[in-house]
Amino acid sequence: MNGILIREAQPEDAKDIIQYIERLSAEPNIYIAMSPGEFGKTEQQEAEILRSFHEEQNAIYLIAKKETRLVGMIVCAGGHRKTTSHVVSISMSVDQEFRKQGIGKLLMEHAVQWAKNNPVVTRMELLVFAKNEPAIRLYEKFGFVVEGRHKNAIFRDGVYLDNLSMALLV
Ligand SMILES: CC(C)(COP(=O)(O)OP(=O)(O)OC[C@H]1O[C@@H](n2cnc3c(N)ncnc32)[C@H](O)[C@@H]1OP(=O)(O)O)[C@@H](O)C(=O)NCCC(=O)NCCS
Repeated sequence: MNGILIREAQPEDAKDIIQYIERLSAEPNIYIAMSPGEFGKTEQQEAEILRSFHEEQNAIYLIAKKETRLVGMIVCAGGHRKTTSHVVSISMSVDQEFRKQGIGKLLMEHAVQWAKNNPVVTRMELLVFAKNEPAIRLYEKFGFVVEGRHKNAIFRDGVYLDNLSMALLV
């Protein structure tokens, strides 16, 4: 895709990532389970987390850059026990100004390709607000299927919302 670079996040990206996540969580009515100001990591802590992604075989932290600007990310966090090391939990987002331009698709393509080539990973899973149509459509496009509904899993602005669990076997 034009002008978009997908690459692994480096510890030096910590500051950009914190600013990006704070911006994202402050969006009104965003369908993510993080409230504004809740991310709460220092630059040093975030850099340490990014370093740990490089050390783990079953995990990857990918970011999308347009020139110097961070415009999206997909995080595949691997299970830490022998019984779950084949499973990655996914979270992803694209900067509001850059949505509906194919960046989400590009990030997911990279993540699925990584998982297919990974000697350990065989399952990708995620939770998504049941109301989050754009995200659900994107996941379905890649073959993710809904495995269940977590009723009232989210409580926000005085209202309960459901989550869907979705997964893709690779
Ligand atoms: C979900 C999200 C990552 C999609 O990223 P994106 O870059 O806008 O998605 P793309 O432009 O690559 O679109 C990929 C596909 O997703 C679906 N999609 C994306 N936006 C959509 C919309 N507003 N309505 C319906 N489907 C949509 C479409 O199937 C689309 O494929 P198509 O263009 O061939 O029709 C983005 O909307 C986002 O960051 N949302 C806020 C954070 C979030 O909800 N994250 C997911 C938490 S589980």
